[in-house]
Amino acid sequence: MVDSSLEVKNYGILASGQGSNALSLIVKGLEFGRPPQFVILNRDNSPLIEKAENLGIKTYFLESTLKGEDLDFEARVLNLCQVHQVDWLFLAGFLKILSGPFIDHFNNVGFSQILNIHPSLLPKYPGLGGYKKAYKNNDPEFGHTIHLVTKGIDEGPILLQKVIPTNSNWSLEDMVAVGKKIENNSYALVLETLLKNGLSWDGKQAQLTWVIDVK
Ligand code: GAR
Repeated sequence: MVDSSLEVKNYGILASGQGSNALSLIVKGLEFGRPPQFVILNRDNSPLIEKAENLGIKTYFLESTLKGEDLDFEARVLNLCQVHQVDWLFLAGFLKILSGPFIDHFNNVGFSQILNIHPSLLPKYPGLGGYKKAYKNNDPEFGHTIHLVTKGIDEGPILLQKVIPTNSNWSLEDMVAVGKKIENNSYALVLETLLKNGLSWDGKQAQLTWVIDVK
């Protein structure tokens, strides 16, 4: 049985969209004097680029509009990880599928050092459209999951899951706004805990050696 633990030293962020989760991680990292080494975006119209640069974070735009795996994009990301000695990645609204060899590259002591935030209560609603599916199905509760990234899509070990009761008066936009605000807090909380304590792994599940209480 694998039994190991690892501290987070240098980490980077991959993002594709609005960037609210990435920004929340950056702010938390700065608060601890441990900001990310970089943010990589694969789309150039994100408001995150300016916001991250204004906070002094190195930002790279590596275009990738390919659906599915993009090995050329991944090679460029790996190169930047080497340059900045990054061995942990946080996917923050990053909408690309990563290849198996890329994921393996971040598996040094038996568990993945890539984290993702997903907008549903996994294993419910993997893939795209988590909020929309919960809304359309009138789910009484919805939420998000922060997990380690493995080769199965949205299947890796869960670090944190936040359940939010649905308000029947909400529009889909209301649900997304509430859900994303809480996502931002949850991801920052996970980063804070990893920076303080690292992560340990008993071969079956990732143990964040603390109990999370997300308000
Ligand atoms: C968030 O809701 C995040 O959970 C989701 O994209 C949104 C990005 O928002 N991620 C996924 O769907 C990953 N499969 P942001 O760009 O404002 O952080």
